[in-house]
Amino acid sequence: MPEIILPEVELNIYTPKKPVEVKVLENRVVTRESSPNFVRHITFDVSGTELVNKVRVGQSVGVLPPGEDERGRPHKLRLYSVASPSAGEEGKPHLISTTVKRTIEEIDNKLYLGVASNYLADLQPGDKVKLTGPSGRRFLLPENKHDFNYIFFATGTGIAPFRGMIMELFEEDFKNDCLLVFGCPYRTDLLYSDYFEELDRDHSNFSYLTAISREARRKDGGKIYVQTKLIDEKERFDALLDKPNTLIYICGLKGMEEGIYRELYTQGYHDYLEFRKDLPEDLSEVDSKTFRRAVKPSERLFEEVY
Ligand code: A2P
Repeated sequence: MPEIILPEVELNIYTPKKPVEVKVLENRVVTRESSPNFVRHITFDVSGTELVNKVRVGQSVGVLPPGEDERGRPHKLRLYSVASPSAGEEGKPHLISTTVKRTIEEIDNKLYLGVASNYLADLQPGDKVKLTGPSGRRFLLPENKHDFNYIFFATGTGIAPFRGMIMELFEEDFKNDCLLVFGCPYRTDLLYSDYFEELDRDHSNFSYLTAISREARRKDGGKIYVQTKLIDEKERFDALLDKPNTLIYICGLKGMEEGIYRELYTQGYHDYLEFRKDLPEDLSEVDSKTFRRAVKPSERLFEEVY
């Protein structure tokens, strides 16, 4: 196992008290087919600011929505993962992009729209936005990124950092293996799938698997989730998980990590985890709370869940 050298990163060049104003360059839908969910790829032009060349994929930027909440306080900052490679969108270091899903909820017969996501999704090219950051210092590709193989597990907009990381790897002629597993409710919610399908076609060392949870079912009647792919595509995963230089990255819905940990544990891939307590071989009687207390990621597993 080569040493994992994480890059030094810049942090909080801009803060909520001293944000930076940048321009929206592009705001487009990223689902391929018409979907009841609205997910957008938004690119900011950060020319003339300290963010140029300073934001790494895996980091986030803060967005300060204008206006105040119902109590008259300024809206709080919301963090959005960077979806562009560290070299910038289209290789331009002054362009940083992110992936935004409109948050729409119905509570007690009333519709609630998430403040920051709907503000961002409404923006037009040329509009100005206040940003902070960058933030995050661990969920990164190693400096020596070409020494490893990667398994990326994403649900929903958790795909954002992996789009940028995968672009970064393959723009640099990545020779090791990379497997992306993306989970979403319906086929219409697949994000950036044209790009990933093309990469899968053109590169024998890249595989793209989808886990669509609300269409077909598994043989046992259960839902198809990113972690059930570890069972249903076992051979493909084994080929990677067995290698001493494979790293796992998890990003998306809070809770998804537990299913992945359980499957890794059950299959004997204990190297990706660390144990605070011993666990029985068969986890079926181990409840979620006990399991979560007993395990944490090892240095080979990176996660960002929210
Ligand atoms: P479902 O909601 O059908 O149970 P999105 O963010 O676009 O809604 O997608 C999130 C995806 O993650 C959905 O397919 C969702 O399935 C799935 N999901 C929900 N809970 C878990 C979990 N505990 N582990 C893995 N995937 C999950």
